[in-house]
Amino acid sequence: MSAKHFPLEPIEKASLDELRALQLKRLQATLAHAYAHSPVYKAKFDAAGVHPGDCRTLADLARFPFTTKQDLRGSYPFGMFAVPRDQVARIHASSGTTGKPTVVGYTRKDIDTWAGVVARSIRAAGARPGDMVHISYGYGLFTGGLGAHYGAEKLGLTVVPFGGGQTERQIQLIQDFKPDIIMVTPSYLLAVCDEVERAGLDPKSTSLRLGIFGAEPWTNEMRQAIEARMGIDAVDIYGLSEVMGPGVASECVETKDGPTIWEDHFYPEIIDPDTGAVLPDGASGELVFTSLTKEALPIIRYRTRDLTRLLPGTARTMRRMEKITGRSDDMMIIRGVNVFPTQIEELILKRAELSPHYQCLLLREGPLDSLKVAIETAPGVSPDSTEARAAARLLQHEIKVFIGSSVEIELKGEGGIERSVGKARRVVDLRGK
Ligand code: DLL
Repeated sequence: MSAKHFPLEPIEKASLDELRALQLKRLQATLAHAYAHSPVYKAKFDAAGVHPGDCRTLADLARFPFTTKQDLRGSYPFGMFAVPRDQVARIHASSGTTGKPTVVGYTRKDIDTWAGVVARSIRAAGARPGDMVHISYGYGLFTGGLGAHYGAEKLGLTVVPFGGGQTERQIQLIQDFKPDIIMVTPSYLLAVCDEVERAGLDPKSTSLRLGIFGAEPWTNEMRQAIEARMGIDAVDIYGLSEVMGPGVASECVETKDGPTIWEDHFYPEIIDPDTGAVLPDGASGELVFTSLTKEALPIIRYRTRDLTRLLPGTARTMRRMEKITGRSDDMMIIRGVNVFPTQIEELILKRAELSPHYQCLLLREGPLDSLKVAIETAPGVSPDSTEARAAARLLQHEIKVFIGSSVEIELKGEGGIERSVGKARRVVDLRGK
């Protein structure tokens, strides 16, 4: 343990001009690689009447066609890969709610690039030489566990590869091994915290100093609640399998102002989700990514369905994305008003009588959709108590005032909302059921 902090990589300190020049060079190489080696991309570019040679500036990327989850599913399992199968070192897959999984592949070099951006993310989150990391993201086809693992190892930290589940045992090992950092979905962390309290312990008393949370939307209000409850810094890590896995973007602990996009590897655009038009930085829309260094599965203008904005760099020159407010898949339309679970989460967390465990239940009443928000009361507060009922009424009022929707609130006792060991299911569609 020589240095107290890890040094930044030169590219993290590069000027915007240097960064844009590197991006253009890498973008041109990626387009050429995809066109030459992936028949799916060749067909898509040909159909759109574009050729990799047409990309002379970064803005020219807008002339190229989008890639969607459908493209990956349609070429299941390996049809979009741009290297021979024997050069693919690893496969991951994300299981959709319906149909076949989306399969992604990595060459050895891709794995190394990925470990590099995750190492950079963990460092930006405030890791120090000598730290121990407890990983509770699931290991396996999900990119969370192995992605975090390789990054933490590359940074030279001590890794505890626990994975998801077995909450009591996780807590036992956290007490015995005394890790400094935990990497986990924010919703599962809350379940771990509850279990710590049930065991009569104070979540602030653990050795943990830092939590690196992602894989699902979580609000700044949730950040404050976690930080206060555990006495840690809570930072946001973003990513998706199709683009790489965790570590496409990650927050810097000194600013905690939205994930910095590791733009030397992933080129972001924001588009209007209806027209596909590219929007200027600062405007809200759908996030689109193009990989700049991937070999096995180059990804060109992938539509993430995540809604956010691009913001100027603060702790780094690279741009940031605003904390994700929602996926278009999670958007509920209640009597003409668009509602995201994160908007409701912000308001729930203002009420001490309510817990952060909640679910949005979509119902149908005649021709119209309606929304019921099911929430567990805080430990020790009965759902039938006067304070809990008053909190529910206030919440209902605030949802009407701030979001514009009339919703029903259902209070549940402890354990009334299902716990997940990975991503929480925030929207349950009960229409027609
Ligand atoms: O969830 C990769 C990951 C693992 C990221 C661990 C961070 C930590 P997928 O299973 O393919 O990959 O799901 C990707 O999850 O499009 C977002 O909708 C959502 N998501 C991921 N990170 C965040 C985040 C992993 N920090 C999808 N905030 C993405 C909000 C997130 N949503």
